[in-house]
Amino acid sequence: MSLRDFQKHSGSSILHEELAASIAGEARSHKTLMQHEELPSGFEQLIGPGLTRRRFLSGFGSVIGAAALGSFMGMAPLQRVHGNTRSSLLGFTQVPASTADTFVVPQGYSARALVSWGDPLFADAPEFDASGMQDSAAQSLQFGDNTDGMSLFPVDDDRALLAVNNEFVNIRNFYPHEGDAITSDDVLKSQYAHGVSIFEIRRGEDGFWSVDKTSQFNRRIHMRTSIEFSGPAAGHPLLRTSDDPAGRVVLGTLGNCANGKTPWGTYLTCEENFQDYFATSTEVQFDATQQRYGLKQRDVGGDWYRHDERFDMAKHPHEPNRFGWVVEVNPYDPQDTPRKLTALGRLAHENAAIVVAEDGRVVVYMGDDARGEHIYRFVSEGRFNPNDPAANRGLLDSGTLSVARFEAAPGDLQGRGHWIELEHGRHGLTPENGFADQAEILINLRVAASIAGGTTMDRPEWIVVHPHNNSVFCTLTNNRNRGVLENQPVDAANPRAENHYGHIVRWTPTQGDHLAEHFDWDLFLIAGNPAVHPGTAYAGSAAINEDNKFNSPDGMSFDADGRLWIQTDGDYSNKGDFAGMGNNQMLCADPITGEVRRFATGPVGCEVTGVTFAPDYRTLFVGVQHPGADGTVSHFPAGGDSKPRSTIMMIRRDDGGVIGAA
Ligand code: FEO
Ligand code: CA
Ligand code: CA
Repeated sequence: MSLRDFQKHSGSSILHEELAASIAGEARSHKTLMQHEELPSGFEQLIGPGLTRRRFLSGFGSVIGAAALGSFMGMAPLQRVHGNTRSSLLGFTQVPASTADTFVVPQGYSARALVSWGDPLFADAPEFDASGMQDSAAQSLQFGDNTDGMSLFPVDDDRALLAVNNEFVNIRNFYPHEGDAITSDDVLKSQYAHGVSIFEIRRGEDGFWSVDKTSQFNRRIHMRTSIEFSGPAAGHPLLRTSDDPAGRVVLGTLGNCANGKTPWGTYLTCEENFQDYFATSTEVQFDATQQRYGLKQRDVGGDWYRHDERFDMAKHPHEPNRFGWVVEVNPYDPQDTPRKLTALGRLAHENAAIVVAEDGRVVVYMGDDARGEHIYRFVSEGRFNPNDPAANRGLLDSGTLSVARFEAAPGDLQGRGHWIELEHGRHGLTPENGFADQAEILINLRVAASIAGGTTMDRPEWIVVHPHNNSVFCTLTNNRNRGVLENQPVDAANPRAENHYGHIVRWTPTQGDHLAEHFDWDLFLIAGNPAVHPGTAYAGSAAINEDNKFNSPDGMSFDADGRLWIQTDGDYSNKGDFAGMGNNQMLCADPITGEVRRFATGPVGCEVTGVTFAPDYRTLFVGVQHPGADGTVSHFPAGGDSKPRSTIMMIRRDDGGVIGAA
């Protein structure tokens, strides 16, 4: 596909719900998606004449998945999931769907808040001011807003560091004026509430943890923190600005969505919806690449450009190029200068899933969360050295980036795929198509990946790798443009038009080798509503039933036993297409049998996102982001008439056992 084609089909980007109520309203309008009650013609073609609709609908992850899965490395053939199938991995009692303004965990478990937006992280930091009147100086010493991806770094048996993303701010709750009269200090306060919070936690006698405000490790990384560019695009003309004529140092990180943890003990924070922060004081004609990244004349309400000129694209057109990267920082060194890793490409990054291949090269899987965007793999040039952590710091600066292409025989919902290397001079990535050098490919990666032939996906969110068998899972959260826009046709890996429930794709590299060019893939799970859309593709796959249904899978994590934890960021209206699903939630799946069980439910208006475990897997940390969003009423976590606050919850078993196990 040529660059010109992209001008016709530039993908629209995602705005976060809290920041764009209009988008949320649009999602609601899909509640009666009846035009696809019958399988659309594309689906019939996909299924093929030999496979009836009935078999198709009952067969996701069972009939269809069994043959291919039997050959996957180390995996037992997928078994058909019946309502009474009991997984030996899942040892807890499922919780029902909930619309309550509280966090619900299974019988025999307890949950407690660890830290909420505005809580002090330093001994001299002020306590949270519920009136919302606290200023930027206070916020700079407090936990940021909108907790998201996080990783735990052990210090000793009872001490650890948590590195936590603070993705964006809930403008309505963040300011007393609810965003109607944003001042210069309000912008600074917002910038201080973004980024990463790093702090020490200590385990108490009851097993629950608490923040140690006196720890020397505690640190806030925010929009005024100096960050270096590293890798092939560092210093490139497209990264240069009047403030940084060398293109090597940028102030701050934002849109910090999900995360990664390297084997050498550093934290990766992934910049997602950077486009929401830029605006123009005068009209600007955006080129196809800027449009592809979702840049617009107006921001989503933060007004940063009025008070911080670098967010005015009319004056600083290269500033957006300096966001949308994966950032690496060493949480054990409070003086460490974070680095934006340009070798991993510029995207609306979700997370970064890292595995070390047999020969020591490091593989990073990444999703680009926007409708019709792609899935990527990075393979390092150098090899991991477990005996020299410092030497590993450059591993993510040099390597090969590829985009995934999913293929299948007609009528199949599983198949083969391969990785297309995104290297200058190959696959159409030439000067004629707009790429003068490799750095331009990395900076404008979306366009490059499509020219090279990557498959457009239904909003790739988190990617995780099974700890025992090398299979890889990616949540495709939803995509109302599937089957609607020409560049996002219904296909085998994204098989439903106007996919408003989401699904999870799984692939296993050939011979379990993450360096392999090819992989086998299938659909592990398809979310749906069997009560609202019985007998259709929108009922979901066989593992989905009245008791565990949900929409918009997003966050994921594996624990050491191989339980797959799934978090949702979907429509919580509990009406129409989403009736009976309740608030956003956390589920747990057995990746072998396919069984899915609801583990926890979040409060009103929240998204459940961010997950990590204590090293003994006896405390689970879960993020509750933006309770009370989209005009809903929440007083989580303090109750009464308190202001809702994003909060990290700790979950423990009352008997102290391993979370999720029998
Ligand atoms: Fe920040 Fe794609 O979620
Ligand atoms: Ca997410
Ligand atoms: Ca999401």
